Amino acid sequence: MSEILVQIDGKEVHAKETMTILEAAQCAGIRIPTLCHHEKLDSYGACRICTVEAEIGGRTVYVAACVRPVENNLVVRTRSEKVNNIRKVLLEELLAHAPDSVELLEMAQEYGADRNRFEKEASFCVLCGLCVRYCAEIKKKDAIGFVDRGARRAINFIPEIAAKECWNCKECFPLCPTSALQAAYVLTEALAFPGST
Ligand code: SF4
Ligand code: FES
Repeated sequence: MSEILVQIDGKEVHAKETMTILEAAQCAGIRIPTLCHHEKLDSYGACRICTVEAEIGGRTVYVAACVRPVENNLVVRTRSEKVNNIRKVLLEELLAHAPDSVELLEMAQEYGADRNRFEKEASFCVLCGLCVRYCAEIKKKDAIGFVDRGARRAINFIPEIAAKECWNCKECFPLCPTSALQAAYVLTEALAFPGST
């Protein structure tokens, strides 16, 4: 496997050609914030919190580090005024959905994001997909899925599967950056399999 030379925040990094920018940065001890990324799961690229500035073919572009593969002589900046501002606005949008998320509030502090900038639409789920993908890819159970599209998109436990599989598992619970997953599970439990508790 050939080696790729990239520059991240002024540091020369030798990366494997199969790596993403995020993986190359992590190998070099450079932190890029993430929300929907999990090292055991396939790349997803939903939240864009990992956005970085990259110089590609003489142009400056903004790419999601968790999905963008490295390429030779790529120059990456993980922080810049524009990167910080992109992350700030993304966090403000996410906080409109999950205003009490500790994980989001910690990041908001770092980027100066205002949790009250956008009108609250507290769905609590920020659609990171971690729960759905963990259950499908790691547990191979598909006990949770997404329903609907657009503004109505939400997670949903499949009661017949959840009643059999979830009580003894719950491995997805700590992955959720908000309180949405536990709330959805408690609701499913109460409505669909009340006799199990
Ligand atoms: S319930 Fe939590 S883990 Fe699942 S998609 Fe929503 S925010 Fe992500
Ligand atoms: S962490 Fe990269 S898009 Fe969510």
